[in-house]
Amino acid sequence: RGTMTVGETAKLLHKDASEVIKKLISMGVMATINQELDIDTILLLAAEFGVEVEVKIPVEEDRFETVEEVDNEADLKERPPVVTIMGHVDHGKTTLLDAIRSTNVTSGEAGGITQHIGAYQVEINNKKITFLDTPGHEAFTLMRARGAQITDITIIVVAADDGVMPQTVEAISHAKAAGVPIIVAVNKIDKPDADPDRVKQELTEYELVPEEWGGDTIFVNVSAKQRMGLEELLEMILLVAEVNEFKANPNKRARGTVIEAELDKGRGPVARVLVQHGTLKVGDAFVAGNCFGRVRAMVNDKGRRLKEAGPSTPVEITGLTEVPQAGDPFMVFEDERKARSIAEKRAITQRQSELGSNTRVTLDDLFKHI
Ligand code: GTP
Ligand code: MG
Repeated sequence: RGTMTVGETAKLLHKDASEVIKKLISMGVMATINQELDIDTILLLAAEFGVEVEVKIPVEEDRFETVEEVDNEADLKERPPVVTIMGHVDHGKTTLLDAIRSTNVTSGEAGGITQHIGAYQVEINNKKITFLDTPGHEAFTLMRARGAQITDITIIVVAADDGVMPQTVEAISHAKAAGVPIIVAVNKIDKPDADPDRVKQELTEYELVPEEWGGDTIFVNVSAKQRMGLEELLEMILLVAEVNEFKANPNKRARGTVIEAELDKGRGPVARVLVQHGTLKVGDAFVAGNCFGRVRAMVNDKGRRLKEAGPSTPVEITGLTEVPQAGDPFMVFEDERKARSIAEKRAITQRQSELGSNTRVTLDDLFKHI
């Protein structure tokens, strides 16, 4: 129910009820010991007393926080893999992303105006691949910070003329920590001083051993600039996806992650979202971080208006009341009222964590008995 009596609050704050009542009166709240206080008031009290509290929202009241429901195997359908590109500065990440995007325009969608929506899809052999534009490091940091997994496969770009560098190693450890399969793209093979074998040799030190040397890491030689090896790279991504059997249930309410968001002068808050489970539809009520809204319009990376978007589809949506943050979880609810109440609860939790205090007493069981 999200409330506690004055007496219960006093106990959890390690104060006498009379002290709490006095404090409440000084805050303009007339209270008795059995009076119920709402979360906001309890948080204010805690701040007044310099005590840090942690709000645990009861699980049954907030599906947003619950462990995701398990899908039946039969409901799971193949979905496009979501790929990020990581690598050392100047090794060609942006050039590679741009080259893949421009060489591969899905027939039927040709002529569409490319939109920057934080991610894009390409199609090869009638299968789609989703690429995240977000620099890999940022995507991974976000993922880890929010506990969300948005990438299925990581491509580590290593310039063949430069070899393994500090951020290459960092990228490898990010991908390994997240348990994401790695494909190595040895880039700039067009350069006269390119030495792809040296890159392979150097990477064995990080347990990335090519198949021809008895390992199981896929290496592809590419030139992002000359557009060489791109098709092979895409095929290898599909191969890894096939082996890993990335699946999702498209027949439920959508859930995903905000990739980017901003305030657009004309359209108001705009969010670019990667749908990860279920299908997002125009008109759906949703929560993104602690913002809520109703999908007014939805556009894909080719600037095409969509009525619905299934798993692994990046879309740009309007219809939010505020601007969420990149990395925020996104989830559809049965109606706007529910979405609003969840968003408000999340806002309270955030406000609470922002109420800095001197004494670091964590009352993590604040609502244990509610
Ligand atoms: P940061 O975003 O700064 O980390 O760099 P990046 O990894 O995105 O590299 P970017 O794509 O900006 O490429 C860096 C430089 O390398 C640019 O001048 C590119 O033109 C060049 N470059 C990228 N790929 C190739 C390639 O395959 N061959 C050659 N010769 N040059 C390349
Ligand atoms: Mg770049």
